[in-house]
Amino acid sequence: MEHSIALVTGTTSGLGYAAANTLARERWSEIIVTGRSLAGIKETVAQLEAETKKPVFTPLELDLDRPSSVQSALAELVKLGRPIDFLLLNAGMVPGKKRVLTAAGVEASQAPLIGHHQLTVGLLRANLLSPNARIVIAGAEPARGGVPMFSYTDVAAFAASHHRGDRSAAVEALLRSGPDVKYVPNNAYADAKLVVAWWVAALARRLPSGMAVYAVSPGGATATKVVRNVSPVLRYLFIPIVNLIPGMNQTPETAAGRYLQASEFGTDVSGQFFASAQGKVSGPIEAQRHPHLHDQASQEAAWKAVVKVSGVDFSSAAN
Ligand SMILES: NC(=O)c1ccc[n+]([C@@H]2O[C@H](COP(=O)([O-])OP(=O)(O)OC[C@H]3O[C@@H](n4cnc5c(N)ncnc54)[C@H](OP(=O)(O)O)[C@@H]3O)[C@@H](O)[C@H]2O)c1
Repeated sequence: MEHSIALVTGTTSGLGYAAANTLARERWSEIIVTGRSLAGIKETVAQLEAETKKPVFTPLELDLDRPSSVQSALAELVKLGRPIDFLLLNAGMVPGKKRVLTAAGVEASQAPLIGHHQLTVGLLRANLLSPNARIVIAGAEPARGGVPMFSYTDVAAFAASHHRGDRSAAVEALLRSGPDVKYVPNNAYADAKLVVAWWVAALARRLPSGMAVYAVSPGGATATKVVRNVSPVLRYLFIPIVNLIPGMNQTPETAAGRYLQASEFGTDVSGQFFASAQGKVSGPIEAQRHPHLHDQASQEAAWKAVVKVSGVDFSSAAN
């Protein structure tokens, strides 16, 4: 891909910051970086420019919890009028003990996907993704299972027991952390990243032929602020102990490098979820083969739920 224009969400800390920094060093000509407030993201830009000595960053206010903020960001991008080659949908969070819903009634760790969907569809509608654009969204290993202390919901079983078999209604309940969902923060996070993996597969079927989208787990990198909401036991006991085990933690730069690696993958693997090998949270990334990730009925149910909750449908945009 020609190294031209990238947009990175959630750049005020952690992996988004590291990714923007690396892209500048790799000579991308413009990197649009986002933060919830313009003042905050301008500070980040000053820091990035001081570190990289490259005046290539454009600050953009984007709070993915607020549809109005996504709309304003899109209006700014239309004004800039430059098609994006690499869209890195990195923003995300591990939720805390207390269930938090946005003003739009979306569970806090699910909200970034809703905002990212609104942003991506808005860019597609405005013709602001280049014909060979690559879209990478942050996934995480808990979406495939086998990560201690995190479990994802068996959506087919949950749909059967609580939603008369309607998987889309079941995913909507997870997005909204509805009354029939038992809120457990780590499981909410696993579900959020599972919906991300399904959304990617469904979006891949809808993208123009030259474009591609992947979910990519950056893997473990606990030096970021990702653990800010987790329980003290997890934060101060479990994570430091686990970090002593070789291969259980990486620098933010290494973790962000996985996003950039995937941005060079082909259209043949569009729609897939790339993560560490089973049992690992670092090392090379590989396409995940777990059957629940490849269940097309669940992928389409997730797409339908995201469309409903976000109020934005891409099929109508494509027509
Ligand atoms: N670090 C890891 O071990 C790890 C492992 C697997 C996956 N991931 C994923 O990697 C991504 C980056 O995480 P990180 O480790 O860099 O964490 P981080 O240091 O907490 O950075 C997260 C970034 O996302 C932004 N953000 C979160 N929710 C947002 C929202 N609703 N609207 C706008 N911005 C929002 C944050 O902004 P504010 O500070 O303003 O909230 C921040 O800039 C996340 O999607 C995370 O789930 C991380």
